[in-house]
Amino acid sequence: MINYLVWKNRGTFFIERLFFYIFAKILLKRKIMSKTIAIANQKGGVGKTTTSINLGASLAVLEKKTLIIDADPQANSTSGLGFDPREIETSIYECVINGEDAKKAIIKTKIEGLFILPSHIDLVGAEIEMLNFENRERIFKSIIEKFKNDYDYILIDCSPSLGLLTLNALTAADSVIIPVQCEYFALEGLGKLLNTIKMIQNGLNPELQIEGFLLTMYDPRLKLSNLVAEEVQKHFQSLVFDTIVQRNIRLTEAPSHGEPVIVYDAKSKGSINYLNLAEEILKKNQ
Ligand SMILES: Nc1ncnc2c1ncn2[C@@H]1O[C@H](COP(=O)(O)OP(=O)(O)OP(=O)(O)O)[C@@H](O)[C@H]1O
Ligand SMILES: [Mg+2]
Repeated sequence: MINYLVWKNRGTFFIERLFFYIFAKILLKRKIMSKTIAIANQKGGVGKTTTSINLGASLAVLEKKTLIIDADPQANSTSGLGFDPREIETSIYECVINGEDAKKAIIKTKIEGLFILPSHIDLVGAEIEMLNFENRERIFKSIIEKFKNDYDYILIDCSPSLGLLTLNALTAADSVIIPVQCEYFALEGLGKLLNTIKMIQNGLNPELQIEGFLLTMYDPRLKLSNLVAEEVQKHFQSLVFDTIVQRNIRLTEAPSHGEPVIVYDAKSKGSINYLNLAEEILKKNQ
């Protein structure tokens, strides 16, 4: 009987240890893998939102639980994923200004594993309202910290400015993707963005890295497109993603249907480009 009890205790102890080990491994894995990436360029219309939505959807399809934070008052990521920003009850604005629980503001999208913290036009006033806040550059960071480990990837769609909202995104992020449109003046303003990134690395966020420069709206038939791509690759070398996002009409149409291109037209060039980008990022972060 005593032998049986000792054996039983040992058995329970072993099972408990096994559960603890598995649980610790899962936690550790999730903690290491969780990555926050800001998608930023103060130049307008270069493909920040298109990249946020379609990279986010591709990561989710590759079974990485992904959250898109729409940090732009234009709320294009929100509407592009099928939500009417006017009908959103709690947006990132209320989380930043009124301290509302961001976990409750996050919405599930129609893509399994893809979530969004939506935006609202009210966010346009947030930069001024935030001026009096203590630690005003770290508000996103403290919001994200509460749920960071619930996701494998968090993408922050920034507005076309280097204002306080973008500073918050870069302070909260582990890395930044810089979309560069293969067009005239593509390199214009990149110096200013890189100086801002350096300034943040020297103070607010020493860990911030450049995930990569992403060439967007590339048209292989155009000499200019090729020239810009070559120039960016020559300049930033290994920091430029191998994946190039081509100009593709499906990428423009998809948001008006409230869908990422992988749902709207999975076989399109745009869909394949963003899936390749997601795979490149996953490989890099293995
Ligand atoms: N690869 C592409 N092919 C074709 N059209 C594209 C591509 N990428 C983006 N676009 C289109 O270009 C326009 C600008 O793209 P997007 O909204 O993603 O840029 P943005 O940098 O987020 O703009 P903003 O600075 O205003 O936030 C949109 O109409 C979008 O549909
Ligand atoms: Mg945008």
